[in-house]
Amino acid sequence: MIYAAVMGYGTVGAGVVQVLTMNRDEVKRHTGEEIAVKYVLDLRDFPGSPVEKILTHNYEDILNDPEVRIVVETMGGLRPAYDFTKRALMAGKHVCTSNKELVAEHGVELCRIAAEHQVNYLFEASCGGGIPIIRALNASLTADRIEMVEGILNGTTNYILTSMAEEGKEFDDALREAQKMGYAELHPEADIEGWDACRKIAILSSLAYGQHISYKDVHTVGITEIDAADMTYAKAAGCKIKLIGRSCREEKGVSILVEPMMIGPENQLYSVDGVMNAVFVRGNALGDAMLYGSGAGSLPTASAVCGDVADCAKHLNKTIRTGLTEENASVLPAGNVPGRFFVRMDGDAGKAAVLAGAGGVMRLPEFPEEFAFFSEQMTEEELRTRCAAFGNVRKIIRRG
Ligand code: NDP
Ligand code: HSE
Repeated sequence: MIYAAVMGYGTVGAGVVQVLTMNRDEVKRHTGEEIAVKYVLDLRDFPGSPVEKILTHNYEDILNDPEVRIVVETMGGLRPAYDFTKRALMAGKHVCTSNKELVAEHGVELCRIAAEHQVNYLFEASCGGGIPIIRALNASLTADRIEMVEGILNGTTNYILTSMAEEGKEFDDALREAQKMGYAELHPEADIEGWDACRKIAILSSLAYGQHISYKDVHTVGITEIDAADMTYAKAAGCKIKLIGRSCREEKGVSILVEPMMIGPENQLYSVDGVMNAVFVRGNALGDAMLYGSGAGSLPTASAVCGDVADCAKHLNKTIRTGLTEENASVLPAGNVPGRFFVRMDGDAGKAAVLAGAGGVMRLPEFPEEFAFFSEQMTEEELRTRCAAFGNVRKIIRRG
């Protein structure tokens, strides 16, 4: 029997307890050992729940119990998650987490501490909910040179954008629904301002390119400015608006950004709707591959965490290489990432037409005071400068 402890009995933590109980035999079949949850740590009491008898409010109970070999951290936030994780690793306990904020901020250090103590710090659930993308990058794709990572990495925003586009829902109503279903962060600004997707693309890109990329260096735009008019234009153009994280290995460094993008059916991410996420990678040997699945939610995320728990059980005395390194990548300035853009503006449509690609200028009867177009390839900086000569820019959205 291997004993585990779960810190944080919320959406994900409760899912972890449920999966480890419901799939006990499956886990044992893979690990050769039964895994039992000995403690659940939370601030609240859960009278009448299955964890009532193993609930503690005292972290020291977990830390000081030598029988606990694996600790699951599903509390979220930086404090006290960082201290609890660090102390558990230093005490020779494995830690599995869904906390991408912590991984993005302190992952390199925590992996180093884990290695120094011959234990593991695993974080599969930190990116893409239940999608096993981290294990793919750390194990299956280690013989490839990854050239590009692109994905829909946040379930809440994808749920909101899909609800707005397909059901005409208001932004705030869709967000409230996502919160009700347990998809959103405690502070949902992290979702809608793009910070969550930013942390995830930073983590994935660090693993993919073998050099550390700080989330602080990722140019990030959220979805709060996306409105019903943008949705109408997108539909008219046969496109959808998605919050996309993208990084590419370039000659002089890594380009990386998170932005709402207008994408057409030619893009593999076009059909990824609702809470679903997908991560697309391009390797020099593999070519293109895409992983798709639930990007948030209790059981899908718990599946990823429990996969890590099982991996720890299989490697109780060995540190699995995670691919997070201390060496910093050179991150290229986002203003230099060229692309095509969707532009809404008012002013001289005739003159603006010189910036438009083959599609020319669009006018929709719903919005008589403005026009729109998809630009030719250029940087956003250049586009803004050139547009300024023809009128007033209302909105710019990258064409993905
Ligand atoms: P919840 O808020 O649902 O759960 C967190 C739990 O931890 C709550 O029960 C909270 O108690 C408890 N907690 C907070 N601080 C402490 C503390 N100091 N000591 C003990 N317990 C504490 O969050 P989620 O389960 O949604 O998310 C947890 C982590 O997983 C976050 O990092 C999140 O980003 C990540 N994640 C979430 C996903 C999802 O779909 N929800 C998917 C992937 C990752 P209380 O409520 O009383 O504050
Ligand atoms: N709030 C996050 C999301 C949870 O919506 O994707 C999963 O990381």
